[in-house]
Amino acid sequence: MQTNVTPLRWSGARPEGALELIDQRLIPIEETWIPCATYEEVAQAITDMVVRGAPAIGITAAYGAAIGARDGHPREVVLARLADTRPTAVNLFWAISRMRARWERAEADGEDLVATLFAEADAIRDEDLAANLAMGRAGAELLEQGARVLTHCNTGGLATAGYGTALGVLRAAHAEGKLAKVWIDETRPYLQGARLTAWECLADGLEATLITDSMAAHFMQRGEVDAVIVGADRIGANGHVANKIGTYGLAVLCAHHGIPFYVAAPTTTLDPEITEGHQIPIEQRSASEVTTVRGQRIAPEGIDVAHPAFDVTPPELVTAIVTERGVARPPYGASLAAALTPS
Ligand code: MRU
Repeated sequence: MQTNVTPLRWSGARPEGALELIDQRLIPIEETWIPCATYEEVAQAITDMVVRGAPAIGITAAYGAAIGARDGHPREVVLARLADTRPTAVNLFWAISRMRARWERAEADGEDLVATLFAEADAIRDEDLAANLAMGRAGAELLEQGARVLTHCNTGGLATAGYGTALGVLRAAHAEGKLAKVWIDETRPYLQGARLTAWECLADGLEATLITDSMAAHFMQRGEVDAVIVGADRIGANGHVANKIGTYGLAVLCAHHGIPFYVAAPTTTLDPEITEGHQIPIEQRSASEVTTVRGQRIAPEGIDVAHPAFDVTPPELVTAIVTERGVARPPYGASLAAALTPS
């Protein structure tokens, strides 16, 4: 089973050289790697969605911190710039906090700062891959033999260190021979489903059908969807799930049709500070991502546009949350707290 779809790599001999990111804006038309030689270039690439997906932007920011240290920039300047890129995915802030702690300790202990920070970024990347593989094993057990499963956005190797969260669960179910079909929501307006998830499913030989977001209800009504599984950008202490815009609508549809609605996310996506859904900051992106497709205008000049990039699904609509530490069930206050407590 393919685990080597990864959004980032290093070019040159470290610590020289640059972080390279596969330009996710161009997939599947082109596979182009963009070099980021400075922490500023790393930050801009996150904002511009060269790289996207909650775990992937956290890992990318970790390497950005190491690059900033290598180039002699002050710690808090570097970390503040990396934090000021995208507001919703808590994995970004988790990775920045972890890099800050390691940076401070390396300075206090007189360690080789640059080598230490690159090693920490490598560890964050490797732990994410391991978490995805563990989620795959745990999540596949939730699915019935012959399951036809709908997913939203891209939660695969491109969105993580490799393998994926929700798509990792589907990869694991496919490997076990129990997955009959993936329904891929195209995921308007950024089309992560149509462009990225479709590309990953084809590469791995998963049986998959692409639909527009508005078709999901129709196929549920016809009994052709057995489960929905999505990733997350931030999950509050009580199980509020922020994920790609359109996720909440899917959860409502699942409740209406009696279909299980699963979330797969590593514990780095849990935010114990959040107790209510409205506390999660929702990124508002540009109107042009709604009014144009690949630079081609599809709406009249002058129309008012809204573009919240994420929505929040309340815990009562979530059947279970898969983390690398197992499957959390309601009530999430207790089960997610247990997932955050190392055994
Ligand atoms: O705006 P994006 O593409 O960064 O949004 C990504 C998502 O919403 C994913 O579902 C989420 O980050 C989980 S990725 C493993």
